[in-house]
Amino acid sequence: MVRFAVVGLGMGRGRSHLIQKTEGAELKCVVDLNEELAKKNGEELNVEWTTNLDDALGRSDVDCVMVMTPSGTHADLGIRAAKAGKHVITTKPMDVTTEACDRLISACDEANVILAVDYQSRYVENNYRVAEALKRGWLGKPILGEVRFKWFRSNDYFKHGNGWRGTWKMDGGGSLANQGAHLLDLISWFMGDYQSVYGETAIMNHDIETEDIGLAIVNFKSGAKGVIVGTTTFPESVYFSAEVHGTDGGILIDEVLSGKMRVIGNGLQEQLDSIGDNVTSIIEDVVGAVENGTQVRIDGREGRRTVDLLEKIYQSAREGRTIQASEN
Ligand SMILES: NC(=O)c1ccc[n+]([C@@H]2O[C@H](COP(=O)([O-])OP(=O)(O)OC[C@H]3O[C@@H](n4cnc5c(N)ncnc54)[C@H](O)[C@@H]3O)[C@@H](O)[C@H]2O)c1
Repeated sequence: MVRFAVVGLGMGRGRSHLIQKTEGAELKCVVDLNEELAKKNGEELNVEWTTNLDDALGRSDVDCVMVMTPSGTHADLGIRAAKAGKHVITTKPMDVTTEACDRLISACDEANVILAVDYQSRYVENNYRVAEALKRGWLGKPILGEVRFKWFRSNDYFKHGNGWRGTWKMDGGGSLANQGAHLLDLISWFMGDYQSVYGETAIMNHDIETEDIGLAIVNFKSGAKGVIVGTTTFPESVYFSAEVHGTDGGILIDEVLSGKMRVIGNGLQEQLDSIGDNVTSIIEDVVGAVENGTQVRIDGREGRRTVDLLEKIYQSAREGRTIQASEN
């Protein structure tokens, strides 16, 4: 049995329920600075609650801490958990800078604990099939990877909490860093490492510091091209999709969070159907890693890739030039 504490009870509330539903996992306590929220969730989940993370870190019956606080706090809280000998899961993105990601990776290495980053679309079976198909060369030589979303976020969404969303310090960016992080993770998973990237961002219709529209053109090391488009300015949330094609076939994932997709290519659907994925969530993944020593799907180094790509897109947007992956 792997025993969990969850810190941060916005999205962390849903993840607490997921822990309770997962075989081999047990939720021991929940933490939030907001006492009312901590109490309400603790009572609803029927577990202990506290407003101080140290209470959870001091417990010998907690093996893993799931960090669900604002993005710019993930590394600091994760490092505290690692130093207390706890395995660490952060929600997406891993943190808001690669410098913070590196600190967290080092702390977890030194403490010899597992570090995992929660990108739930990696556990959608069809998305896993697409990643495998690309890895096995079933699409031929990769040509283009494209991820895009059109969503709506109100000005009130950004005023929520203490107003951390849409700030550089705590959200690490806007539509690309927050909502788009899932898609940046997917394009990196599908297409591999990038060589260079050109980005443009703008604030079109929100009262925020960071972008509500982000665009990028990516050149991958494989020679394939990539396109990223993400905005929270559409009148409603209409799609969140990923498309890949190569010389031998193409796949259009109309909704990456459900895996609804269309497959074009001779025999490709049958090939995809032959692949199964036996891990359905980050919690199952971490339980397997702790109990059986399996490798988590998104470890710290894998989670860092999205933050690195984000940093380079934003640097490009600021400087108005293409940025090489190798640049500091
Ligand atoms: N996987 C997903 O699809 C998904 C969806 C939404 C949010 N997220 C991520 O979850 C994180 C939180 O987002 P949210 O929308 O839930 O935010 P939120 O503001 O609704 O909730 C964050 C909570 O963390 C608490 N908190 C902050 N600092 C704390 C600390 N030091 N100790 C204890 N509690 C603390 C706050 O009081 C708040 O209740 C972000 O990184 C976001 O990117 C992921």
